[in-house]
Amino acid sequence: MSYLKSARALLALFGLVAAMAAAQAQTAAGKLPNVTILATGGTIAGSGATTTTTVGYTAATVGVDALIKAVPELQKVAHVSGEQVFQIASENMGNDNWLVLARRVNALLARPDVDGIVITHGTDTIEETAYFLNLVVKSRKPVVVVGAMRPSTAISADGPINLYNAVLTAGSQDAVGKGVLVVMNDQINAAREVTKTNTTTTDTFKSPELGMLGYIVDNKPHFYRASTRKHTVDTEFDVSKLDTLPQVDIAYAYANVGPAAVNALVAAGARGLVHAGVGDGSLPAKVRPALSSAREKGVVIVRASRVGQGIVARNGEANDDQLDFVVADTLNPQKARILLMLALTRTGSTKEIQRMFYTY
Ligand code: DGL
Repeated sequence: MSYLKSARALLALFGLVAAMAAAQAQTAAGKLPNVTILATGGTIAGSGATTTTTVGYTAATVGVDALIKAVPELQKVAHVSGEQVFQIASENMGNDNWLVLARRVNALLARPDVDGIVITHGTDTIEETAYFLNLVVKSRKPVVVVGAMRPSTAISADGPINLYNAVLTAGSQDAVGKGVLVVMNDQINAAREVTKTNTTTTDTFKSPELGMLGYIVDNKPHFYRASTRKHTVDTEFDVSKLDTLPQVDIAYAYANVGPAAVNALVAAGARGLVHAGVGDGSLPAKVRPALSSAREKGVVIVRASRVGQGIVARNGEANDDQLDFVVADTLNPQKARILLMLALTRTGSTKEIQRMFYTY
């Protein structure tokens, strides 16, 4: 008899679990996702003197509530709430802003009632903020960074449709686990590869050669690939207890360049230095001694390239083993700076840091 009782109990338990799963699936299928919009400023929040002002406008003037109100269609695709985290033009975005933003994003995503986050942002440094968050957000939930190339007051402003597409993506199960995304111009790009390729046009964001992840078409994100590099929950970086980030700077190379910039950055306290070399990260003869001397002082040197596409190969244009330098792989200089900054919160070992550049 006890066998029968326990079998009945087991069956009842299975039935309960099945009913809960069905209810959850039904709820998930039926309910709108909860998406929080964190506003930081930029052109998407910009305003111009006339409807044809597309340059010479003022960025960061329109508040998050007005941005949400201007796109009533958002309410049909998500339960949207807004927070004004900053109100700045993104050329002024800094390490302190990133630490505040990362903390707020992680706090919100830890809540079961938050399904995704959209960050409205100036386009000038959107790729840097997105990559920083790609390395420090500790959730698989979607984080979508979005901007605009025309101010909110312009004819055919791209902000409203970009914001709508960003909220759609942030609320989509298909975007879970894809890392931080940049959604602009109906396209979905990965934070690691996306970069601004044009100073003024609405199709400016591209992932040169390695390509975008997908499109937003007919009110739905369509993914065709995913990044192979680790991100978000799979990274070793944790900024939750940090008040500052190590000083890391970039020195740009060009014909006839001398050591002045490198020496000045080291004197100003750089703990890491990204050299934006010509070609495959080549080191001009006049700069090499300054970089070696910086290394001897403990500054970690990363060889990147100003070219913007392709791999900077280790021991190619310089003997990195001998110089004890790191190479940036395919990261552009501004993103190499971010990874080096986070790497230096963990280690000073160039071997370990090179591993990180091949991992993230
Ligand atoms: N000041 C620039 C910025 O905030 C305007 C460019 C833009 O947001 O599109 O990034």
